[in-house]
Amino acid sequence: MIGIFDSGVGGMTVARAIEQFCPGYPLVYLGDLARTPYGSKSPAMITEYSHRNTEFLLKQGAKLIVIACNSAASTASTFLRSHYSQAIVDVIFPAVTRAAEVSKNGRIGIIGTRATINSGLYEQRLLAARPDCKVYSQACPLLVPLVEEGWLDRQETKMIVKKYLHPLRDKQIDTLILGCTHYPLLKKTIATRIGRGVHIIDSSVEVALHLKSILDSGEQLRNELYCPGTPSRFFVSDLPSPVHALASAIFGRPVLLEKTDV
Ligand code: DGL
Repeated sequence: MIGIFDSGVGGMTVARAIEQFCPGYPLVYLGDLARTPYGSKSPAMITEYSHRNTEFLLKQGAKLIVIACNSAASTASTFLRSHYSQAIVDVIFPAVTRAAEVSKNGRIGIIGTRATINSGLYEQRLLAARPDCKVYSQACPLLVPLVEEGWLDRQETKMIVKKYLHPLRDKQIDTLILGCTHYPLLKKTIATRIGRGVHIIDSSVEVALHLKSILDSGEQLRNELYCPGTPSRFFVSDLPSPVHALASAIFGRPVLLEKTDV
């Protein structure tokens, strides 16, 4: 199985994209809703949670781990890669590669949680991929709780998005990375507020495409993971009331969420 974790429902946007681009590969998902949001926690805390999440997924039979959380990817991926021999895919590299490719003027914006933006990892990787680019980062700490609350179309959410994007609007960016897997759920609002002509990079789609290319070129991994007919499983460490509706809205079908302790 492909193991996927996030602090909450955001990583389900990654799971949905993987289902779409990599059919026949069963998933085991963990949303650590008991501890969300990760983005306002310290790197040490996020690393500890990511470690526990990975242990849980491996026990469920995962043979490859997708860190479907930018906050975890930007603070804990080095630890996880040094600790486990299994393949670990994170959301940051594929989004950076795409942004560096598509930006014409080299002015690239990133929005993410405080942990992601403070890590500086996006900026570092973007500059490595495209040394001439200018990177503008903006932490948006209120957006994850708003999404987890299901406030996707509320006026209040639109106003907060507008406020966060305001500093980026002056920078003539032509590309904006959604550096948090919760943000695809606000994509319409973000696209409207950042303005036409700005290319939006959705890290959930990019990581699914990246995973597809890994599976297409790796016969051993493909043989281990390809198992059409085996149902995917979705675990959460807490079950707050809006989560069922959100999960069903993301997948476009009812999703059985299994409560677990991590
Ligand atoms: N979806 C997570 C991310 O990509 C949100 C982290 C959080 O819980 O703050 O960063």
